[in-house]
Amino acid sequence: MGTSSKNIVWHHGAIDRRERQRINGHGSFALWLTGLSGSGKSSIAVELENRLYHEGIRTYILDGDNIRHGLNNNLGFSPEDRKENLRRVGEVAKLFVEAGLISIAAFISPYHEDRGMVRNMFAANEFIEIFVSCSLEQCEERDPKGLYKRARAGEIRDFTGISAPYEVPLNPELVIETDKYSVHECVDLIVSYLKQKCLL
Ligand code: PPS
Repeated sequence: MGTSSKNIVWHHGAIDRRERQRINGHGSFALWLTGLSGSGKSSIAVELENRLYHEGIRTYILDGDNIRHGLNNNLGFSPEDRKENLRRVGEVAKLFVEAGLISIAAFISPYHEDRGMVRNMFAANEFIEIFVSCSLEQCEERDPKGLYKRARAGEIRDFTGISAPYEVPLNPELVIETDKYSVHECVDLIVSYLKQKCLL
């Protein structure tokens, strides 16, 4: 299977992304939040969406926990399943960008290779990788869902940071340190970055 599927021809619509962007009054691109469980990805995504909404900017959040309830409920946390999770999410994020929205994706996305795969689905200026940086110690102390405790007790296999790796991004567009700054300050940094790059 895959993109080499035979006998399939792309069907073009009458309205393209530029026209959708024009009617929305802003550009569309993907913001990709990567970081450990408990690093603050979801909180930042929610506050960022709230901030942008009040500036009249259309967004949609794709969040690991939520997507795994539906579209990706047949996937676990092996390297292969994470790759497939992120491949599908990348494709969905791309559809939202085509639809003229800012797609905010919040996924652990622990492997360089998988983040690279998603990045390659987008044009260079349409994919912004944001490393949500927070020490493992701090994430484990927060442990909002009690998952670290269970992982340490051996009840959860392949848990990122404990029994599965997290490969720190080498070249993200932005790093935000949630163990130093509040959610509001982190969102300020993202919005300033987007404005400085003339994306907002
Ligand atoms: S990934 O690695 O990008 O495919 O993961 P993602 O889709 O973002 O899902 C992460 C959320 O799943 C919960 N969870 C686990 N995380 C990591 N490792 C293991 N084994 C695991 N099992 C369940 C956890 O709630 C993650 O949510 P966040 O918001 O990151 O804490």
